[in-house]
Amino acid sequence: TVFQDSDDLSRDVAHHIAALIAHKAEAGENCVLGLATGSSPIRVYKELVSLHKQGRLSFRNVVTFNLDEYCGLQADDLQSYHHFMHVHLFDHISDINPTNIHIPDGTLAKAADISRFCKEYEAAIRAAGSIDLQLLGMGRMGHIGFNESGSERHTRTRAVYLDRVTRVDAASDFFGELHVPRRAITMGIATILEAREIILLAFGENKTSTVAKAVEGPVSPNVPASFLQEHPNAMFYLDEASCAGS
Ligand code: GLP
Repeated sequence: TVFQDSDDLSRDVAHHIAALIAHKAEAGENCVLGLATGSSPIRVYKELVSLHKQGRLSFRNVVTFNLDEYCGLQADDLQSYHHFMHVHLFDHISDINPTNIHIPDGTLAKAADISRFCKEYEAAIRAAGSIDLQLLGMGRMGHIGFNESGSERHTRTRAVYLDRVTRVDAASDFFGELHVPRRAITMGIATILEAREIILLAFGENKTSTVAKAVEGPVSPNVPASFLQEHPNAMFYLDEASCAGS
């Protein structure tokens, strides 16, 4: 789906998510959302907050699982995805149950603790009934979550090393590339593809050639977003700049 205006696009996606939450609530069920960070979903979160503040959307039945987190950051570090999610969404939602919010733990240092955590994260997603809707952004080289180029179809939640391009793109947030963490925990490609519905957001000319590869190129670990071609209910929401190469 291509929108001329990425504000309209973000509103459309937010209203779609809100409708799903309300539909699940009517059926007496939880709505399990997979959430993303980065600049792309910010306006979707803003619209969800606005609907909530107008009394049109409750998060009482919402359970969330974030895609990823940098290793080595505390939850309240300004660059952590914990901090991002609270600033852009959770702090403004009065009725979400804090125990329903799941974000990978970047504070773990020992390999054994990280690996146990990742298994428990996968188990928690399964116990919640699997993800109903996964929201995604996409890195400049086609990564989803922190599944960098080379991530295989079968990958699960795990610790990864970040690519140079990803660290360069994050450098301004960390006041220089040197300060960008080298590792992160991310849901895997297989974890993401198990969501019942996937929405990927990509804006701007930086993403043009990667969007074309992800949507029309061969399905390949070189461009992890291309795996979405194999999903029965995955949608790319694009502005005109990002799809100019397709
Ligand atoms: C980071 C995140 C990804 C996100 C990507 C793109 O690498 N880990 O989940 O999709 O940034 O960010 P943006 O939306 O700012 O282009």
